[in-house]
Formats: sequence, structure tokens, C-alpha cells
Amino acid sequence: MDIAETDQTTGSYHNYYKRNVLGLERIDLLEENWFRNRKCLDIGCNEGKLTALIAEKYQPTSVLGIDVDRVLIEAANSIIKRANFSLASKQLSQPTSSSSSSSSPFIPMSVLKKKLLPTPSSSFSLPSTSAFPRNLRFECADIFAYHSSPMASTFDTILCLSVSKWIHLNLGDEGLLRFFRTLFDLCSSGGLLVFEFQTWKSYLNKKKVNEHIKQVFPTIQIRPEMFEGILTNKIGFTVMDRRGATVTEAKGYHRPILILQKVERSPVHISTTRTTAAVSGFNNMFEDDCCLLFQLSMTWVHLKTMRQWSRLHHCANAYDWIST
Ligand SMILES: C[S@@+](CC[C@H](N)C(=O)[O-])C[C@H]1O[C@@H](n2cnc3c(N)ncnc32)[C@H](O)[C@@H]1O
Repeated sequence: MDIAETDQTTGSYHNYYKRNVLGLERIDLLEENWFRNRKCLDIGCNEGKLTALIAEKYQPTSVLGIDVDRVLIEAANSIIKRANFSLASKQLSQPTSSSSSSSSPFIPMSVLKKKLLPTPSSSFSLPSTSAFPRNLRFECADIFAYHSSPMASTFDTILCLSVSKWIHLNLGDEGLLRFFRTLFDLCSSGGLLVFEFQTWKSYLNKKKVNEHIKQVFPTIQIRPEMFEGILTNKIGFTVMDRRGATVTEAKGYHRPILILQKVERSPVHISTTRTTAAVSGFNNMFEDDCCLLFQLSMTWVHLKTMRQWSRLHHCANAYDWIST
């Protein structure tokens, strides 16, 4: 079957899971306890197949899948429709037992047959919390629409699989850093970010995909190898685990997956200019720590000098103050 790439500029591939043989197999790289009884968000969920698998297999409290592409969200919603349909059919085939034992309400056929047409939203709402498929919801939305939404710190687990390259290629380093900060804001305290990212080689394949990306690409200074350092040292996540391929092994759809946790400390906000300067000056990761160390050592030198000065001048009061 031909793969229709209706909008290559955001990676909105149709039939993605037919093309990407690893697509659904990645469920085995993900652990149940990252999802069970947790509120989850899948950013760039595409046709929602992996999202639905997680919702069914790992029984999270709720999963919200979002994607910028309306047609993909329409396909994703048809998964929910089909699952509701089979649930309703099961209930109809067991009228007595299910009506007394199941908590699932009867869903009229008129509702099941109603065509769900997603419209892009500027804010998200969480799915109702229940068993599959009622724990699952899809919305057509751009992750950046969330910027000033009241859903900060809402999600216990955020999935962001193979999306960062598209944000980076479209919005450059500045947009990528804004994206990372948005992920941090959306994550609950102690929450997880499951982050799969494309390698630089994969960027090279798409650097001329349209006029806009042709312009943005040469401005990109942050490389995927630097993501881990930025997400931890600048944004505030902590690495819990790594799955998939390593950055050097990564090939095709075999990509690195970082499991990060939001730890509560104030993230260091960085501007692109600062990052750019640090990139060319080698390692941008530890500049804040170095700055602090420098200040501490200067204070120590200062105290030592004052102490010697006070000894020299028999200045007991100053010496006492420094010693305490
Ligand atoms: C390469 S696909 C990855 C699909 C899925 N996450 C997976 O790995 O199986 C990237 C998806 O991200 C979506 N996307 C790109 N930019 C987005 C944005 N700003 N907000 C939401 N979705 C976005 C695209 O439409 C596309 O479906």
C-alpha cells in the first residue's frame, strides 16, 4: 500500500504504523507501571494505535492523545468508536448478567453511529476516568496551544515519541527549548516523560522538505546528542532509565528513548542565544554549576584574605566575626 504523506512538514504520516514496523512493537519497551492508574498524555499520537494499546493493556486512569493533524485524529477516534461498539455488542449479548454486574452504561446505536469530526482545540479536556475505552480520548491540537492552559502539572506520564524533530525543524532551537519547557510544565510533580527522539541523520533526510524548513535548518545548533543534557541540567528532569537504541546505535526507526522524571527544583530558563554561545564554547550543561562554584571559591578566597588581614592587624573583632 502507498504511504500518503499529506503533510510532511509536521511528520503527520498517514498509515504510519504500516510503514513503521516497530511502531506498535514499542509497547514492549514501555513498562506497565509507567501508566497504570496514572493520567497520561500522548503528544503527536498520530492515528492513536499505540495510544489505544496503552489505554487497553496498561489501564491508565486516563489517556489523552493529541495530534495537529485532523485526519489522523479522525482515524484515532474511529478506534474509540469501534471499541465502544464491541463493548455495546457484548452487553447486548449478555443482557441479564451484564446489566446486573457491569458498571458500563448502555450506549445507544445512534450515539455509536454518529460521525465524530474533530476540530482543532485551543485547550484540552481530560477523558473521563474509567476502563478502556472510556479512559481514552483524542483531540486535534497543537501542543503549543497548551501554553497558557490551566492543565499545568496535570499529567503523571507524558509520551512524546518521534515528535521533537518536527518541532525542531519547524521552530528551530528556540521552539525546541519552548517545547521542552512545555513538557516540564505539563508533567505532574514526580511525573514521567517518555521521550523518543530522532537522530541528526534523520534530520538530514528532511532538511529540504519545504521552503520553511530549508530556511530553519541551517540555524539549528542544538543536536539530538545534547537533548539529555538540556532536559536534565537546564529544564529540570532527571534521567530514570533509557530504552531503545543508544544515540550511536540508532538507525531508522530504532531510536533512543529516555525515561525522565520531573523533580521539583526551579528549572533554569535558557535563551537560545545563551545556548548557542555555550554550544560553540563546548559544554553548555554545567555552566550554572560552574558559575556557582566560582562564586563560592571567590567567597572563600575573600574570607581567607580578610582573616589574614585581621591577624596581621590584630583586629580581634573582625577575626571573630569571620570565624563564626
Ligand atoms: C512521526 S509521527 C510519530 C507518531 C507517534 N508518536 C509514534 O511515535 O508512534 C509525529 C506525529 O507528531 C505530530 N505532530 C507534529 N507536530 C505536532 C505538534 N506541534 N503538536 C501535536 N502533534 C504534532 C504529527 O502530526 C505526527 O502524527
